[in-house]
Amino acid sequence: MAETVDISVDFAGIQLANPVFTASGTCGYADELADFTDINSLGGFITKSITLKPRKGLPTPRIIETDSGMLNAIGLANIGLERFIAEKLPIIEKLSAPVFVNIAGESIEEYVAVAEKLAEQKAIAGLELNISCPNVKAGGIMFGTDPKQVENVTTAVKKVSGSKVLMVKLTPSVTDISVTARAAVNGGAGALSLVNTFTAMVVDIDTRRPVLANRTGGLSGPAIRPVAVYLVNKVYNEVGKEAGVPVLGVGGVRTASDAIEFLIAGATAVAVGTGNFIEPGCALEIVEGIKKYCKRHKIASITELIGSLK
Ligand SMILES: Cc1cc2nc3c(=O)[nH]c(=O)nc-3n(C[C@H](O)[C@H](O)[C@H](O)COP(=O)(O)O)c2cc1C
Repeated sequence: MAETVDISVDFAGIQLANPVFTASGTCGYADELADFTDINSLGGFITKSITLKPRKGLPTPRIIETDSGMLNAIGLANIGLERFIAEKLPIIEKLSAPVFVNIAGESIEEYVAVAEKLAEQKAIAGLELNISCPNVKAGGIMFGTDPKQVENVTTAVKKVSGSKVLMVKLTPSVTDISVTARAAVNGGAGALSLVNTFTAMVVDIDTRRPVLANRTGGLSGPAIRPVAVYLVNKVYNEVGKEAGVPVLGVGGVRTASDAIEFLIAGATAVAVGTGNFIEPGCALEIVEGIKKYCKRHKIASITELIGSLK
């Protein structure tokens, strides 16, 4: 058994100590998770979506558990750019793990305004462009399902993002995800993250009404994992590999074996979302599990695993 294993990865030029991030919207802005886990031992941290102005989000109920997953219709509730910079950035500045700030908007101008301000902040390693939220009327998934819009918003944000890595987060709710992935790469995306949640509904059979106040929500958790693994593999093979653009695998990762599936399928790293609600420390357990797997399989460097699907 190899004594030491190297599980560090190069992610669009950022050196990650390991390939495990936390996913946007499931761990706040970092301080919320600090009581449960050592954020600096993660490969990286991704914040909740930030918009130009604060957003209250959608009415409740906005979360419901389902078989092997959950539906959420939070509606991008967040504190807004100004408070983020004043209150959360000082916390992020103290972290050694790379931090991506996830940004959302209702127009290209809003995405650009938020990105421009964040690009000035030294403590931020990258930006994740959320063009895939299924729970907002304006912006969100409307950008992410139209390849032309994907390219336009990516190009516009890329122009103002300076040296920050620009990662574009794709929706699975399209006929061919490689088309939107390619559009993001054409616009200058340095990384792709997939997937965001799947639009879904739960019905209360007594009231015959949808359970969520928004009627629909986004499905996440173990239920979506096999679909996410398939989509990551497709985007890796058809777009990412040739373009040299790394893929972040997101969707139902809760254990080391889940993460390893994504890496074999072509993801350079993974992000843990809903898994944090079940076990807030699971991301670090995944890191340890990946090390054990590599030792057991005599893999000296995790990079041997990435895209190794036979
Ligand atoms: C409660 C909740 C809130 C979320 N908020 C955001 C968000 O603000 N921005 C975003 O890009 N994705 C958001 N997501 C999507 C996750 O980052 C992730 O893409 C999705 O949940 C699939 O991963 P999972 O199955 O590991 O949760 C949210 C997911 C959940 C469950």
